[in-house]
Amino acid sequence: MDTFESIRNRRSIRAFNDRHVSDELISRCLEAARWAPSGGNTQPWSFVVTRDREKTVRFDPYHHQPWVEKAPVCIVCCVDPSTKRKKYDESMENLFISYLDLGAAIQNFLLAAWEVGLGTVWVAAFSPKKVRELCRIPDQIIIASLICVGYFDEQAEQTYKERQLRNQDRRPRHELEKFCFDELYGAPRGNGQP
Ligand SMILES: Cc1cc2nc3c(=O)[nH]c(=O)nc-3n(C[C@H](O)[C@H](O)[C@H](O)COP(=O)(O)O)c2cc1C
Repeated sequence: MDTFESIRNRRSIRAFNDRHVSDELISRCLEAARWAPSGGNTQPWSFVVTRDREKTVRFDPYHHQPWVEKAPVCIVCCVDPSTKRKKYDESMENLFISYLDLGAAIQNFLLAAWEVGLGTVWVAAFSPKKVRELCRIPDQIIIASLICVGYFDEQAEQTYKERQLRNQDRRPRHELEKFCFDELYGAPRGNGQP
């Protein structure tokens, strides 16, 4: 699949069926995450692959996001803020850089998953406290996001869509003119450059 096509077509999937997701496919997506760029090549990320529903059902204790417990696989995405400190200084900026690194790795994961026919949704609203306890994640490691992974359940999505997204564009994006500028912030693009 062409990279631009994957980027353009990927979308969040929140309706999963129970089909087993092979560990081979999960490893392929993790391999894609592994090759993400990172500041100073410090690679501050780590990922915990969880399949145990008794655990994942407790990741979102108020059940605001049913896809967290419905997904056959849930990847816990973490950063180790101390990784950058070894290379740079201890400023908060380095923590932000680590989050940027993790974001790049997660996006690689999502695109690789899309390419092999798996649906994903990136989830940032959950209980890190519960996840830490259930996955025994050390205190110094930051739990930043989950990725829910599974095969798309089209029928369930129709119901979800009808309920949540009636008459709305599925995932509108801002026009390029709104956030891309030439030379000066706010200056329109397209000044005759070939
Ligand atoms: C940092 C981040 C956090 C997100 N958190 C959630 C979340 O908690 N729950 C959820 O259902 N979707 C979450 N999403 C998915 C976004 O809602 C989704 O990417 C956005 O609406 C665009 O839709 P698309 O992914 O289909 O293009 C998150 C996405 C990002 C990048």
